[in-house]
Amino acid sequence: MFQSDSIAENYRRYLSPTVFDPWARLLVETVIPAPGDTVLDVASGTGAVARAAALAAGPTGRVIASDLSAGMLAEVSSNAGLKSAPIETLEAAATAIPLEDESVDVVYCQHGLPFVRDQRTALTEMKRVLRPGGSLGIITWVAGMRLEPFDSYGDVLREEGPTEPFPRAWDFDSVKMTRAQLLKHLAGFEDVTVNTVSIRLDWPSVDDAVAGILGTPYGPVFSSLLPERHDHALSVLRDWMTASPHPLVTAFVATARA
Ligand SMILES: C[S@@+](CC[C@H](N)C(=O)[O-])C[C@H]1O[C@@H](n2cnc3c(N)ncnc32)[C@H](O)[C@@H]1O
Repeated sequence: MFQSDSIAENYRRYLSPTVFDPWARLLVETVIPAPGDTVLDVASGTGAVARAAALAAGPTGRVIASDLSAGMLAEVSSNAGLKSAPIETLEAAATAIPLEDESVDVVYCQHGLPFVRDQRTALTEMKRVLRPGGSLGIITWVAGMRLEPFDSYGDVLREEGPTEPFPRAWDFDSVKMTRAQLLKHLAGFEDVTVNTVSIRLDWPSVDDAVAGILGTPYGPVFSSLLPERHDHALSVLRDWMTASPHPLVTAFVATARA
């Protein structure tokens, strides 16, 4: 779903600063790596969490950004700054993480788990690579709740009548989770907490909010709509984003220990 280079570039440019970086900061403030820690960010995408964690782990730390998509990882900057740990990229499925047992101090997975087909195996892998007592931080969108900007992107595209661009593209809950699903996956961990947190999106401009669709798996189909359909979709999206520039978005923030 995230294999196209144009999705990765637009994700980093438009979506990450407004939609994902604020959650990454919150996640790393909630599960704080110690200086020198080895940190793994599973389904890292363009590295929002890896960047925030690199600052916390400091120059003696090690941060590994892993993802299924080479295109997304190509947008991860390897050097987050002199005060940060270097960030390594690792092309890998969440269900087969090529790292040693008990080799990681902190594992994160932000807005990635719902995309993984075998979530139980992914959690088993996260636990395997964590040292005993190591920390886990997971964020997922909340099933059954409206999620901006993504549900609007999907609504606008679906109205133009293309065939589903990817499996379950019109089932907006497919990228979200219930609390019960999350708790079930975390059953093998200690000290589990799941909190519901809301933040308000703060787009720099309506143009950025509209362009964000290009950073989603809807992007390539949206771009290839016939000119008339494309212009119509664009103007509907622009009207919606103008009417609601600062939507509240809600996610589960889960923490646990191995
Ligand atoms: C919505 S993005 C989240 C990226 C990042 N964590 C963030 O907060 O910006 C979902 C990511 O999950 C990755 N992904 C999907 N299935 C995966 C799998 N089975 N294993 C590893 N990564 C996967 C995608 O390539 C994509 O980069």
